[in-house]
Amino acid sequence: MKKVILPLFALLLIGSAAHAGLKVVGKGDNMRLDPSGFPPAMKASYDIMKVKCIKCHNLERTIVALQTGVAPISGQPFDRNATKAYGVKMLRKPDSNMNKQEVKATVELMNWLLDEANK
Ligand code: HEC
Repeated sequence: MKKVILPLFALLLIGSAAHAGLKVVGKGDNMRLDPSGFPPAMKASYDIMKVKCIKCHNLERTIVALQTGVAPISGQPFDRNATKAYGVKMLRKPDSNMNKQEVKATVELMNWLLDEANK
């Protein structure tokens, strides 16, 4: 019995730790991150994200991708190797109203948040 229960317990622990990583406030359209514990550079990037990345869809889409490691629309992996490509994809959309610097800042933020989400 012990042989089965211990690995299951370990999995549960890992699962809940992954979710404890990001401080999320609100639900659905109002879903936001709580930046109070962010280092200053990441706070500045979050100020860009919370304005620029909600023009076409809410922040829930980005937060879910960061929390689950899966891009919610395409079902593709959302990891450190993918964040830049998603940033560029968003930048290239018509009327994205972002510049490269802003996208770079949000990509760096997403990479940092991925690490935080996995802590
Ligand atoms: C000009 C409109 C627009 C802006 C601005 C925009 N997005 Fe998107 N986003 C979309 C559309 C449309 C989709 C639907 C799927 C696709 O085209 O990738 C999407 C999808 C996504 C997805 C899910 C991708 C998938 O494959 O599941 C993520 C994550 C995302 N956006 C994050 C961001 C971030 C982060 C920013 C800010 C840097 C941003 N978006 C800014 C239009 C936009």
